[in-house]
Amino acid sequence: MLKVEYDNLASTDIVKELHTHGLIIVKCNKQLTLEEFKNIKLGKPLIAKRHTLDDERIVQYVSDKGAFGSGDVDWHNDWSYGSGNYFGTMLYNYKNGHLSATDFVDMRHAYETYQDKDYLQSTTGNYFPPKDLHETHFTPRMLKIIEKAKVSRKFAHTHHITGDTVMYISPGTLQDEIDVSELVKHCEQYKYEHNWQDNDILIYDNLRYMHRRNAFEGERELWRTQFWV
Ligand SMILES: [Fe+2]
Repeated sequence: MLKVEYDNLASTDIVKELHTHGLIIVKCNKQLTLEEFKNIKLGKPLIAKRHTLDDERIVQYVSDKGAFGSGDVDWHNDWSYGSGNYFGTMLYNYKNGHLSATDFVDMRHAYETYQDKDYLQSTTGNYFPPKDLHETHFTPRMLKIIEKAKVSRKFAHTHHITGDTVMYISPGTLQDEIDVSELVKHCEQYKYEHNWQDNDILIYDNLRYMHRRNAFEGERELWRTQFWV
């Protein structure tokens, strides 16, 4: 994990740092506009269908009234059910992020420290969005495309850019009857809990880091972009 000041972003090779560290915390001491947030260029952006804030449909609001509501969100990797080498997410604490921490686990470290690598190498998970998100987050057409793609990854996944092996289990979107509770327990030993401060920006590699958050009460809004590198 790397910490960077927002004022130093322009002189930082943020994509290279993301490949190296997997999770970047950007400390920012002012409220960003949508344009300033979009100006942090990380790669080809994913166009979203729902909960968007801008005309290009790149920035989504993750809030009690938008994406994911205010309930618990289980451990997962974003876009685990999407085909291709989908890569990263950027989140910005627009309002009251402190109402719930976001937890992360470095799954490269989780893989390196897990004893039974043969099990991870020989087990494959299939991924699909959880039912409670179907109506609010996807159009019927999107669900058909995702269903057709039938995305699967080995529990020991090779990162397409870094070549690192990471543990990949995304429990919240895993479709199989595989009990991953022991693996989750192993991963949670290395949990990093991010307690949001005003205007924090988090950038993470979705193949290397899985994440979760607890339910909260009140008005909380994060902005999100997703991108390929
Ligand atoms: Fe997520």
